[in-house]
Amino acid sequence: MMKVFEHINQLQQAINAEKLKGKSIGFVPTMGALHAGHLELMRQARKETAILVVSIFVNPIQFNNPADLENYPRTLESDKEMLESVGCDFLFVPTEQEMYPEPDKTVFHFGKLATVMEGAFRPGHFNGVGVVVSKLFNIVMPDKAFFGEKDFQQLAIIKAMVKQLKINVEVVACPTVREPDGLAMSSRNRRLSTEERVLAPQIYQVLKKAAQLRNVLSPDEMQQYASKQLKAVEAFDLEYVSVADDVELQSFEHWNDIDGARIFVALQLGNVRLIDNVRIF
Ligand code: PAJ
Repeated sequence: MMKVFEHINQLQQAINAEKLKGKSIGFVPTMGALHAGHLELMRQARKETAILVVSIFVNPIQFNNPADLENYPRTLESDKEMLESVGCDFLFVPTEQEMYPEPDKTVFHFGKLATVMEGAFRPGHFNGVGVVVSKLFNIVMPDKAFFGEKDFQQLAIIKAMVKQLKINVEVVACPTVREPDGLAMSSRNRRLSTEERVLAPQIYQVLKKAAQLRNVLSPDEMQQYASKQLKAVEAFDLEYVSVADDVELQSFEHWNDIDGARIFVALQLGNVRLIDNVRIF
């Protein structure tokens, strides 16, 4: 049976009891409205660690857009059922008061990693992610924590933060889980209209096609190609397309300048903001 905790001290008591028995702790932080992408992180955690701790907290300070926070889906009852089905041991559902008894003033410096893409288009977003994830790591003190490549820049930010703060946790990256038509699973997908849902898979189709042109296009040409294809879909309000290295997420001139690259996109479809990324090499 899964145990549900609202308070930090009770969760910590339960975790400590398991640690004393020598059990390893796996942690998956989420904002709820769970889907098969989240569940894959949990299955991975189940394989690698003895006790699975999941948190559900819609973190207000990482939302730069008040309407996005307001409209963020909240489906706690069905989330709990899904968590039971994947064998979650402890679910942490703190209130805002529990996480932020007073406003948090921490300011992170992630360097150029946080200046591009999501960092540029969502001011304050990664600071808010850093604040909440560092607090959650301090509370749970997991051996391993699992994050999805769907939010590739977030994953890079978390790795940088763990290194900076010398947090004793192994960050495990998990591949993006997609719908059968290629659309990256996201809690926000349920806010798409039927018409928008039909268009959305073109995001992945364009990225995949662009990534396959690596032998015929320069990085800049690939970016332009994907950008043009996406702009051709009238309903897509494109924010950025970026071909970047997979460590610092910076653009570069020649393929052989770097060891690994991905193509990233963010766009607005109706009033839903979608992001995705695909590995080039
Ligand atoms: P949330 O969007 O709920 O995502 C929780 C975790 O699930 C993240 O690591 C995210 O990358 C992963 N995830 C989401 N969709 C996925 C998919 N289709 N395939 C694989 N993994 C996927 O990301 C957050 O919450 C928050 O920023 C959080 C880290 C919890 C801090 O508030």
